[in-house]
Amino acid sequence: MKHVISIEDFSRKDLDSLLAEADKMLSFVKKGKQLDIMKGKIMGALFFEASTRTRLSFESAMHRLSGSVIGFAEPASTSLAKSETIADTVKTISQYCDVIAMRSPFPGAAKLASEVSRVPIINGGDGSREHPTQTMLDMFTIKKEKGRLDDLHIALVGDLKYGRTVHSLCKAFQNYKKIRFTFISPKELAIPNEYKIGEYRETNKLELEDADVVYMTRIQKERFPDQTEYEKLKNIYRITPETMKTMKKDAIIMHPLPRVGEIDWHCDSDPRAVYFKQAFYGVPTRMAIIKMVAGGGN
Ligand code: CP
Repeated sequence: MKHVISIEDFSRKDLDSLLAEADKMLSFVKKGKQLDIMKGKIMGALFFEASTRTRLSFESAMHRLSGSVIGFAEPASTSLAKSETIADTVKTISQYCDVIAMRSPFPGAAKLASEVSRVPIINGGDGSREHPTQTMLDMFTIKKEKGRLDDLHIALVGDLKYGRTVHSLCKAFQNYKKIRFTFISPKELAIPNEYKIGEYRETNKLELEDADVVYMTRIQKERFPDQTEYEKLKNIYRITPETMKTMKKDAIIMHPLPRVGEIDWHCDSDPRAVYFKQAFYGVPTRMAIIKMVAGGGN
């Protein structure tokens, strides 16, 4: 049984093949075609933590593959409210479906789920640890928009300490050549040592002149143990049309979203701002992921 728990479980060959499959899915999505790959199958969408893009793009992906979806976005409406454990909840729901996409605020929750589930588990984010399917769609976006996944200078900006999308992205790019990272954060939100891989530079200044990819992130209120620290840091970086004038003409700005002010909405009309396209690419990428783990036998 295949699970998607950590991006570290995927080699370059695995990732390249998944992205090639996502590209095929993209052409079906663009033509408005539905595929039969998950016909008669059910996805459990278990969201123990808030989500817009991950949950709804997984649901959209499942519908486009002719499958159906059960689940919840509000754990208070489940027996968790009666103190049932996440492990028992997953074990039970895995009797009702063929694949589970889940998100939890707890690091390690997806791994735990994979140990008790009778169906494949897809990690849609486990606390501040990892968000592997976001990384897959981020890589798909970079491949589509820059035409390559090697020889890139990637500037990662914002909450690099708690940012799970950044953590998974750093690990995924270990598989690629001539990658340079610039980690831009205040010292309080610096990237943990385990993600400082390959060639990198750290700074607290928003220096984007030489970046091919600017990966902006939100300062995440919900991850701060001390809210006064959040108030101090929340507006530390903001990309405006003025900032964009300093960037390369062929750079791209990405953001996993949601944003809360770190990218001025006046930037949205600049062709280098690809964050909503990135959100759209979540559907074909997640179609490919669902096919990979649960699409056998069709
Ligand atoms: N990118 C992302 O994970 O967005 P949501 O939190 O809305 O799912």
